[in-house]
Amino acid sequence: MGFKIGLLGLGTVGTGVSEVFANPLGRHPLLQEMKIVKVGVRSLEKIRSLSLPPALLITDLEAIVHDPAIDIVVEVMGGLEPARSLILAAIAQGKHVVTANKAVIARHGAEIFAAATQAGVYVMIEAAVAGGIPVIQPLKESLGANRIHTLMGILNGTTNYILTQMQQSGAAFTDVLAEAQQLGYAEADPTADVDGLDAGDKIAILAALAFGGRIDLEQVHREGIRQVSVADINYARNLGFVIKLLAIAKLSPGTSTTADTSFPSQLEVRVHPTLVPLEHPLASVNDVFNALLIEADPLGQVMFLGPGAGAGPTASAVVADLINIAALLKTGLVANDPETPRIHPLLACSHEQYCTIAPMANLVTRFYARFLTKDHPGVIGKLGTVFGDHGVSLESVVQTGVKAGLAEIVVVTHHVQEGNFHHALSEIRSLAAIDSIPSMLRVL
Ligand code: HSE
Repeated sequence: MGFKIGLLGLGTVGTGVSEVFANPLGRHPLLQEMKIVKVGVRSLEKIRSLSLPPALLITDLEAIVHDPAIDIVVEVMGGLEPARSLILAAIAQGKHVVTANKAVIARHGAEIFAAATQAGVYVMIEAAVAGGIPVIQPLKESLGANRIHTLMGILNGTTNYILTQMQQSGAAFTDVLAEAQQLGYAEADPTADVDGLDAGDKIAILAALAFGGRIDLEQVHREGIRQVSVADINYARNLGFVIKLLAIAKLSPGTSTTADTSFPSQLEVRVHPTLVPLEHPLASVNDVFNALLIEADPLGQVMFLGPGAGAGPTASAVVADLINIAALLKTGLVANDPETPRIHPLLACSHEQYCTIAPMANLVTRFYARFLTKDHPGVIGKLGTVFGDHGVSLESVVQTGVKAGLAEIVVVTHHVQEGNFHHALSEIRSLAAIDSIPSMLRVL
């Protein structure tokens, strides 16, 4: 019957995918032309709620990617290895691949897509970014008429949940994280989420599609939310902002395009906690929800919003990719013969160049900074002088009172160059009147 699928992994996402297949009525008819024929798991011991015959489960994952009867491999096991090697082995065997693995694609996408192009197969990644929200297909297909200049998103549900809870309950980061771990919203090792690495993988993948070139993940500035305090959340609220972990990819100001008009010369690609104006569309995206705002010409702004993780939403994206591949296989837009490859030009990846990522020191943005200072006359004047000497113009300066003998001063700048702002902060740190600078955040 139809096309045969080998599923690698039966965790949250794999279980969600098997449940969609177990119950195809009312969904796209192509689902009924596909069948999961093998499921690779680490151990047969673990008890699972199964919507698949137990006989399909095997622990030999290599056997799945080498099985000549299997047309499509779905990799939903996560982690870098053996996921990367299994994906490459499946491609080498002429199998199409659907993966939800953002970490592998962001780090090894160049190798994987080059192998796929050579083998004449598709590697589909809708589930790798923003879970159930369709963001990959719009960038590949629906927005093709546009010049995209900005992608801006909340791409990590765990950190959005933590920041929302801190905002609503006034609890500290460590307390909210511990509670989120107890509830199963945050991983036992929360590093990838709270340090901005997961969002960094996702914005790198989106930027490659939006701007038509590969992204070197090492050059993506990734800063997480560990240093965000309730004090900053409260100051931000009083100033008309909410703090969100934003993932941003945009053409650097002044960058139009190079002589090759299809390729941008410089991009900003960055993840960091950001003060977002309360009236901005991303400000009200709360809890575990994800959102992606795209600014493009001539479209203008479009925003995608929805569940960025979880069994059902991620399975929705995986199965959409499977349906796409089944449609291509049915219409013959696939030939595994390298002499006569027939590959859908919108669904295959053809990037070969790397985008140039602008250094953070060149970024032009607004900043928020909080200073603890001695409560002496002239301290605010001294701060203003140092900022002025470095070309940093201030939009507002607030001193709310004295705590434990120290004055707390909060500054918001106009748009300034990040390098200049850091030079000013270094000089301010050395002033005798300055006790500490507990926070420095970017402002949208
Ligand atoms: N850990 C991710 C998040 C979900 O918190 O958004 C999977 O990408």
